[in-house]
Amino acid sequence: MNSKKQTRKRIAVIPGDGIGKEVIPQAVNVIRATGAQVELTDFDWGADRYLRDQITVPPDGFAMLARDFDAIFVGAFGDPRVMTNIHAKEILLGMRFKMDLYANVRPVRLMDAALCPLKGVEPKDVDFVVLRENTEGVYTDAGGVFKQGTLDEIATQEDINTRKGVERIIRYAFDYCATHAKLDGTPRNKVLMSDKSNAMTHSGGLWQRVFKEVSTEYPRITAQHMYVDALCMQMVRDPRQFDVIVTNNMFGDIITDLAAGLQGGLGMAASGNIHPGRTSMFEPVHGSAPPIAGKNQANPFGAILTAAMMLRHLGFEEEPDKIEAAVLEAVRQKETTQDIGGSLGTREAGDWVANRISS
Ligand code: NAI
Ligand code: MG
Repeated sequence: MNSKKQTRKRIAVIPGDGIGKEVIPQAVNVIRATGAQVELTDFDWGADRYLRDQITVPPDGFAMLARDFDAIFVGAFGDPRVMTNIHAKEILLGMRFKMDLYANVRPVRLMDAALCPLKGVEPKDVDFVVLRENTEGVYTDAGGVFKQGTLDEIATQEDINTRKGVERIIRYAFDYCATHAKLDGTPRNKVLMSDKSNAMTHSGGLWQRVFKEVSTEYPRITAQHMYVDALCMQMVRDPRQFDVIVTNNMFGDIITDLAAGLQGGLGMAASGNIHPGRTSMFEPVHGSAPPIAGKNQANPFGAILTAAMMLRHLGFEEEPDKIEAAVLEAVRQKETTQDIGGSLGTREAGDWVANRISS
């Protein structure tokens, strides 16, 4: 038996708001169906809790997660009753920033040609990964407003880029490229850095210099660059060319929604928020989708594929393979929710995958 599996891995489960509360239980059932040796502990952090007792993250919450758990499995945060979105900011950005989960890993894989809106694109054509810097950029909330509410109002939002932050995500991208093969088994061999250094010369200049420096340490990997606007066009025109993409927090956020479109939509996209060697957090890319929440309509596959990614990160091998194979089969047999062409509800699609694994 794999030594990593001898102790049960401890996973904190935080479904959060909206469809997070529907898709996470399905993914948890699927984890259980694999028989993986894990211990799951639920937390009620989210809008309901916040509206009840004004607590977003209990005192010592992040330290507790880091100390007592091997991974954190999260749904989504965002609720129309909390206009400020303060709980989402404190919980989600809190985990990313305070636990320093600097690498947001977002694999982009097409499971079936029918899911891709592009003509003539096959599963083998879409198999890349976006590595999004996750702890700085415009998400740090640096900036402010002056003369608010007047015609002279000034608002600034600062783009924070540190040498340390830029270097570690770029290095992570090269290491990821060196150690992760494509689904068909061929090694990855290209890292593309995307920025807007033609307009954002200060931050872009730092990214450019660091990328060039770090790339010299990886002579077997081809280093490429593309401005982010050109990247958007190329992603739609010819997604085959991409392998590993590394970019800042905001561009990573935007291009991974576009990339999700290539995979069948937000309901199919998985992600991990990782700091190597520390307790890391895994969440589907989508948000809480208030309009479809509570209706048994949300696609649980993004959350289920995220569970597979988390188990693999924790050292499991067969269990994530089984999960991915079962989801692939569901997609092929159209045993899916409506957003990707099936007619099942959230629970039924989740049950199908769990049953496929246990049978
Ligand atoms: P969203 O991802 O919730 O929804 C965007 C669109 O995709 C909607 O049409 C929705 O119905 C659809 N969609 C999303 N997930 C789906 C699924 N699993 N199955 C089927 N359809 C799905 O993003 P939106 O509408 O921008 O934000 C809604 C709320 O979620 C806001 O409060 C936002 O702040 C929050 N949010 C939270 C995130 C997180 O917790 N990581 C990420 C993105 C948004
Ligand atoms: Mg987003």
